[in-house]
Order: sequence, then C-alpha cells, then structure tokens
Amino acid sequence: MMRKFFISCIGGLLFCSLLFHACNKVETYTPTPYIAPNIQNFRPLPIDANNPMTVEGIALGKKLFFDPILSRDSSISCASCHKQEHSFSDDRIRSIGVDGLPGARHAMPLVNLAWQKDRFFWDGRTSSLPEQALKPIEDPLEMHIALPEVVRRLQNNSEYVDLFWKAFSVKVITKELMAKAIAQFENTLISYNSKFDKYARGEVALTDAELRGFDIFKTEKGDCFHCHSTSAPEVFISPDRTFANNGLDSVSSALDFIDFGLGKFTGNMADNGRFKIPTLRNLAFTAPYMHDARFATLDEVIDFYNDGPKGSPTLEPIMREKANKRLETQFHWGLNLSTTEKADLKAFLLTLSDSSFIQ
Ligand code: HEC
Ligand code: HEC
Repeated sequence: MMRKFFISCIGGLLFCSLLFHACNKVETYTPTPYIAPNIQNFRPLPIDANNPMTVEGIALGKKLFFDPILSRDSSISCASCHKQEHSFSDDRIRSIGVDGLPGARHAMPLVNLAWQKDRFFWDGRTSSLPEQALKPIEDPLEMHIALPEVVRRLQNNSEYVDLFWKAFSVKVITKELMAKAIAQFENTLISYNSKFDKYARGEVALTDAELRGFDIFKTEKGDCFHCHSTSAPEVFISPDRTFANNGLDSVSSALDFIDFGLGKFTGNMADNGRFKIPTLRNLAFTAPYMHDARFATLDEVIDFYNDGPKGSPTLEPIMREKANKRLETQFHWGLNLSTTEKADLKAFLLTLSDSSFIQ
C-alpha cells in the first residue's frame, strides 16, 4: 500500500516536472535580432526605436502580408496589389479591392521604405509604416474589413497565436502589434543590387550611353536630381523635398486639380497638385507611372519632361524658373533633348532596376 503510494507520488512528480518543462519550453520568449545588411554607399538602415526588428517579427509580418485573412471575404492580401514581380507595385492602372471597386490612385512600389520613413502614400497622409499598414485593411476600396474583426480572426487561429507569441511575447493579439509586424517585414524589402549599385561599388562599368544619361540626370541639363536626388541613393528622393508638383496638369486655379494630392491631406491650397516624389528604383518593373498611372511607358515619362511641365499655380518653383530661362534663351519650354539624349536618359534610368529583388 505504502509502496504503491510512493510510486504514484514519484510518477506524479515526474509528470509534473515534465509538464513544467514542456510548458516552459513554449513559454520561453527568445526573439532573434534582425541584422540589417551593411550596404556600401547606403546610409545605415534607419531603426524605429518603437519597433525593434526581429527574425520572428519579420516572419509574422511576411505571413500577414501574403494572407487574404486580412480582407473581408478573404479574397485579397496586401500582395494582391503589391506584387513582388512588379517591385511590390501593381501593373494595373487601378488596383481592385474586395468589392470589385477600383482604387483612386496607382499602387506604389514597396522598396527601401525604411529610408522614406517620414511620409507614405501619394499624399503623405501617414507618417509611419505601422500607421500605414492599418489603412488598406479598413479602406472600403481595398480590404474593407473592421480591424476588431481581423484581430478576432487572428486570435482564433492557433498558428497566429503562436507566431505573435514568438514575435512579441503576447497571448492577446492587437492591431498595433499586427501593424508592427507588417512594418518589420516591409523594412526588409531592401533593393541594392541594381546595375547602378554595382557601378557605385566599383563592381561593374556603365555603358557610354548610360553614363551620358547619368550626366543628363544629375546636371541642369535634365534637372532630375533636384527632386530625385542622387544624394539619397537608397530611394532617389530628395532628402529635403518629399513632395512636388512636377507639372503634369495645366490648371488656372489650384482648386481645379482633379486630385489635390498633398493638399487633400493638409487642407492647404498651396499643396494642391503636389504629390510624393516617387522612388526611381525598379522602374523596369513598376509601369504604369505617376499617381494616376497616366503614362504606360518610360518613353512617355521622358517625353513629358522633355516637352516641359504644364503651368499651374503650385508648379514647383525650380521647374518654373528653369522653364522660363529656357524660354528666354532657347525658345523652348521643356528640356529640348535630342532623340539620342532621350534614349541615354532612359538607359540610365533602367540601371536603377534590380532583377534580384523581384525574385
Ligand atoms: C486593393 C489594392 C491594395 C491593397 C490590398 C493594399 N494596397 Fe497598399 N497601396 C495601394 C494603393 C493604390 C496605394 C497608393 C494609395 C494612395 O496614395 O492614396 C498604396 C500605398 C501603399 C503604401 C505607401 C508606399 C509609399 O511609398 O508611400 C504602403 C507602405 C502600402 N500600400 C502597404 C500595404 C500593405 C501593408 C497592405 C496590406 C495590409 C496593402 N498595402 C494593401 C493599393 C493596395
Ligand atoms: C520638381 C520636382 C521633379 C523634377 C525636377 C523631376 N521629377 Fe520626376 N517626379 C516628380 C514627382 C512629384 C513625381 C510624381 C508625380 C505624380 O504622380 O503626380 C515624379 C514622377 C516621376 C516618374 C514616375 C515614377 C513612378 O513610379 O510613377 C519618373 C520615371 C520620373 N519622375 C523621372 C524623372 C526624370 C527622368 C526627371 C528629369 C528629366 C524628373 N523626374 C524630374 C518630381 C520631379
């Protein structure tokens, strides 16, 4: 009797300690810090102190990004409009949301976003990636679902419960943590192996045509660098000028723009017609171009700049001044590039595309 009791006690103890170990194993929160690639010529990856990147956080964010669970009828994911083969942009003029309705603007490429940390969307209406990530989920033209419903779906999914635990050491999923994980993944969409990057690192040479195009780009001749700055090679967006009206439309009043752009967000009429200066990385994969996708090809974009900006009250002053000067001296409003020069400029722009990024 005594012996039986003794054995069952030992057995019980053993069982308890096994259980404890098993639980303990699941309970251990040991995130692996993400080591950002150290890229020559790039500024260090800007770190969001409120959202330290971990391998587990990134894995969770990646799963969320590709999962249609984030849309009302579970039919589309972030990746439906941000397609990797198009540098995470959309080849359609307008992306289509869950209700079959087209969005208002062209879906932007997602590349080297960490270096564009201050303003997102064509009109700059969000200032951080986690803040941005929640917008398309709720947007009636995109995933069109209430955030509490998404959180409920994730909480009912044991795989996600496990992944959130591993990433953030929590049992209760929140929209804020979901957004942080997506942002961590987006920050890893880093492109640095374009021909131009390799040229900048001294690994390859550019052709004569590409070099001539680069010259047009970075001098007053083409005058692209004022907005698409070469001093920020990660993105080619001027560090001190995030938005501009590059003269797409001719309107006499700032109230006549079809899309107010930055002005829609700030409510300031002087911002009407101004849009986020887009990255020029991966242009080979991101057609059509501009916020409204009005140009189907790079040739059309170059012809537009070559013909000259259209006049409007908010046209970027440097563009107006340049154009006026040309008008006085050469009787030409636009850049006045020859056919060869236009081809050179295009050849240069294409060196900014990184085919390894889209695989
Ligand atoms: C239905 C298509 C669609 C879906 C789904 C979608 N997006 Fe977008 N995304 C867009 C469009 C269109 C824009 C530009 C909208 C604007 O500027 O008004 C955009 C812009 C963005 C930007 C801004 C990039 C920049 O350079 O400023 C980010 C980041 C982004 N989306 C991430 C996401 C994430 C994360 C998801 C999933 C949670 C997502 N998107 C789902 C269409 C979509
Ligand atoms: C005054 C600032 C400014 C100058 C100068 C400028 N751009 Fe732009 N660029 C912009 C803005 C702003 C946009 C987006 C406009 C929009 O969609 O409303 C843009 C869009 C583009 C796009 C489309 C990218 C996309 O993903 O849709 C390309 C390509 C481009 N520019 C190339 C050039 C080239 C080449 C030059 C020189 C010939 C140049 N830009 C000069 C501000 C400028």
